[in-house]
Amino acid sequence: MHREDFPILKQELIYLDNSATTLKPQKVIDAVVDYYTKYTANAHRGDYDNSLKVDMMYEEVRTKVKDFIHGNDEREIIFTSGTTDSLNRIVFGYMKYFLKPGDEVLITKAEHASNILPWLELEKEIGIKVKYIPLENHLVTLKNVENNITDKTKVISLAHITNVLGDIRPITEIGKLCRDCHILFVVDGAQSVPHIKIDVNEMNIDFLAFSAHKMLGPTGVGVLYGRLGLLENMKPTCFGGGMNATFTSTGEVEYKSLPSRLEAGTPNIAGVIGMGAAIDYLMDIGMENITKQERNLKAYFLEKAKEVPNLVIYNKEMEGSLIAFNIDGIFSQDTAVYLNHYHICVRAGNHCAKILKEDLLVKNTCRISFYFYNTEKEIDQVIEVLKKSKEIFQIVL
Ligand code: ALA
Repeated sequence: MHREDFPILKQELIYLDNSATTLKPQKVIDAVVDYYTKYTANAHRGDYDNSLKVDMMYEEVRTKVKDFIHGNDEREIIFTSGTTDSLNRIVFGYMKYFLKPGDEVLITKAEHASNILPWLELEKEIGIKVKYIPLENHLVTLKNVENNITDKTKVISLAHITNVLGDIRPITEIGKLCRDCHILFVVDGAQSVPHIKIDVNEMNIDFLAFSAHKMLGPTGVGVLYGRLGLLENMKPTCFGGGMNATFTSTGEVEYKSLPSRLEAGTPNIAGVIGMGAAIDYLMDIGMENITKQERNLKAYFLEKAKEVPNLVIYNKEMEGSLIAFNIDGIFSQDTAVYLNHYHICVRAGNHCAKILKEDLLVKNTCRISFYFYNTEKEIDQVIEVLKKSKEIFQIVL
């Protein structure tokens, strides 16, 4: 689907590492290049034509993001450098002042480092308690979330789709539970926003974090969504130009209102404009069509994988568009290097989810992650290479 829009695909390449980052269509590349070649200027600081154009383009993207995740208000959208930055701001700009010693935050062992380490740091800093919701067959269920809520639970913070196994959490149901129990709900949308339709209201999400580069956009730019009432009370974690209204030498400071208050310094303007082009592109295809195509690709892979007896797949039942696997008896990184020999790009290792191994009981996996531009033909090629692996590794080992 739409492969001709991706200039990188003109070379011999089977790109199956889309959970790490996606390829970029020409329209996104053009949007970034146009900013640098036709109308470079800073944002919110100038009174000349190009500067005013940049202001308009930058703020238009805020509206696009708001509409894309079905938010209510542009002030709820803060541009950040990516998911990690967004999650850190939620923890150190809001939770640090909202939570009290002994308050409990529920996460899981399947979270990405970005949704574990900030919480563990806050635990050390102010004495909150980070608790892990036990997984059932590696999954989060509404029941096991419910069973782990106590009167001290103040926050639940979960990936919507996990980056190693690709399980899709019941976010809408958990969101409703959080709302009913007055618990704040933080969602790491890095692996979901690019692939499925998100509605922050329907899903009862209080804070959402995601990155542009996993949804066709440039690297170094992402989004922090927060409900308006919460963002109004979020402290900036970065101070400087663009976010203050006035200050004096004696320390009287007045900050701007949202969203500027949380966007200190010159932002990643080209990145934001590129993200806007990426959202336009995704909306043109339609998120439902993207989800459908990815599900078809996964189903096709699983069917073809039956032809490779030495393939161990860990997430056949998960709905997300990725395959976690190993070639039986082979170290995952050796498999990735073997596939690379055929220009097939996959990721191997623990995928930044370093404590999932306590639940999965497997330390490292290979990961194939699809996006809508992948094809059945590519899968056929991967399967042929995997079929040969037994013979090749026997020669090598
Ligand atoms: N978080 C990204 C991944 O899962 C980098 O590969």
